[in-house]
Order: sequence, then structure tokens, then C-alpha cells
Amino acid sequence: MKILITGSNGMLGHDLQEVLKDKHELILTTSKTLDITDKENTINFIIENKPDVVINSAAYTDVDGCETNQDIAYAVNGEGVRNLALGCRQVDCPLVHISTDYVFDGTAREPIAEDGEIGPISVYGKSKLKGEEAIQEILDKYFILRTAWLYGINGKNFPKTMLELAKDHSEITVVYDEVGTPTYTPDLAYGISQIIETDHYGIYHLTNSGSCSWCEFAKYIFEIAGADVNVVPVTASEFSRPAPRPSYSVLKNKNWIDNGFEPLRDYKLAIKEYIELIK
Ligand SMILES: NC(=O)c1ccc[n+]([C@@H]2O[C@H](COP(=O)([O-])OP(=O)(O)OC[C@H]3O[C@@H](n4cnc5c(N)ncnc54)[C@H](OP(=O)(O)O)[C@@H]3O)[C@@H](O)[C@H]2O)c1
Repeated sequence: MKILITGSNGMLGHDLQEVLKDKHELILTTSKTLDITDKENTINFIIENKPDVVINSAAYTDVDGCETNQDIAYAVNGEGVRNLALGCRQVDCPLVHISTDYVFDGTAREPIAEDGEIGPISVYGKSKLKGEEAIQEILDKYFILRTAWLYGINGKNFPKTMLELAKDHSEITVVYDEVGTPTYTPDLAYGISQIIETDHYGIYHLTNSGSCSWCEFAKYIFEIAGADVNVVPVTASEFSRPAPRPSYSVLKNKNWIDNGFEPLRDYKLAIKEYIELIK
């Protein structure tokens, strides 16, 4: 297949290339070569290249930055996604779009299925929801994949930050009252490589299996990395950040499993592999 990947310089974009390059013809774009907020150019680019599928891994992902740069958040995560959907409609190709657990408000206390009640509490979450809504309004052929707590080789992420801090800190404070599922971008990219072979369109939750708090995740990272660090649990309100985060956003991968796909492996296996790779 001919696959257009937007945001190909990003953390997920990097792993999508790795997973898809041997089997498919890839058209790789970055914010410099295809700014998805440019409506005319984005639609024309899709019409000219006629991809069989578009995978949008471009987004404004700075969750705290979105609070102060609301215009950029809505332009990229809302309008940019709308522009891609309009382009896909012109050439009748499916759009794979990556969304987030931050479209939920965090009040759930058990894993949230795809039809769980939406209620973003941050500008980032609200802007990502705009993108989801635009796709559903414009296209029939789409895969909206909500994922969470991503980390991978090519980008800033929580495990990397923890391991950096561990080099010169013997004690680190980490939030314990936010629970979710850390997800390894190569595993997510592998999931995407499977779903694009199908026409099982719709909204999916797709994360590694299991769940933990940031604090538990940090402790596990230090344990497997052999780092001697005392993790001090703090509440999210003590660890003040500009954007509120959902306190619970574990995603039940219901549609994924109902459609016959294998669940992604446990987050503990994935983080072990990642730490082996980067150490
Ligand atoms: N990171 C997480 O924890 C997390 C959790 C849940 C869902 N997600 C979603 O997963 C997807 C991938 O996330 P990620 O962490 O891989 O993101 P990332 O590393 O921040 O990469 C996003 C890419 O988007 C590109 N981009 C930004 N503005 C653009 C524009 N106007 N036009 C075209 N490209 C633009 C950037 O390109 P340049 O580098 O070329 O500027 C960047 O490389 C995103 O949709 C994100 O919302 C992420």
C-alpha cells in the first residue's frame, strides 16, 4: 500500500516508519514539508499523492503548552485533522488518527470502553476531541485510535526523564493519584500495521495491557534499570502543572479484542524491552 504518514519525525511517527517500511511504500511528511494547518496545501497534497491510507501521527502534544497556546492546539489537533479528513474524502482513502485518553475526565474507576462518556478537562483533550469529531463528521472510513502515556526511542517521555533524573537524584517525587497505561510506541505502531489491512473502521482504544500510577511506573522503571532511587509519592495537586490530567484513564481495548485482534502485551514486558534497548 501507499501510506502517507504525517508527523513522521515524532515519537510514534519514527516507529511507524520502522514497522511499515519493508512492506509498504511510505510518503513521509513533517511539519516543514506538510503543515496540516494549511488547508489548501494539505488537501492538494493528498489529491496529488493519492495514498491508499493516511496515518496522522502529527499533533501539538505539549499538554501544558496547550493551555497557554490554545490557538495552536485547536489549529493542529482540531483544524489540521479536519483538513486531512477533507483530503481523504477527496481520494476516498481511510484515515488513521491517533487520539488520547485525555478526552476522558478521569472520574471512571474501571477501564473505559470506546463508548464511555467523553469529557476532556484540558485544552489538549478538548482540541484532540475536536479532531475526532471532524473525522466522524467528514468520513465513513476512519480508524480513531485512542492511546495513552506513550514512550519510545525517538522523543521526550516519562521513562527517559526518570532515568535522566536518577543520574543525579537519590529521591524523586512522582504523582500517585493518576492511573493509566504506559504504551510503547513500537507496539502501537505494530497494532496500526495490523488494523490498516482491514476495513473494520471505527473508534478503538489501543494501549499496552495492564495499568499503574505514574508512581508505580517510576518504581518499576528504577527496579528494572537497577537504579537506587527513593520514589516519594505525591498527589497531582501537590505536583502542580498548568494542565489538569484525568486521575483515572485506563482504556478498555474492547473493540480491538471484539474485532479479533490480539491484545498488546503487558506494559511491564514492553518497558523491560525499552530499558534494555536504551541502556
Ligand atoms: N505522547 C503521548 O503520551 C500521547 C498519549 C496519547 C496520545 N498521543 C497522540 O499520539 C500521537 C503521536 O504522539 P507523539 O508523542 O509521537 O507526538 P510527537 O513526538 O510530539 O510528534 C508529533 C509530531 O507532530 C508534528 N507536527 C506538529 N505540528 C504540526 C503541523 N502543524 N503540521 C504537521 N506536523 C506537525 C511534529 O512535527 P515536526 O517535528 O516536524 O515539527 C511532531 O514531530 C499524537 O496524535 C498524540 O496526540 C500521544
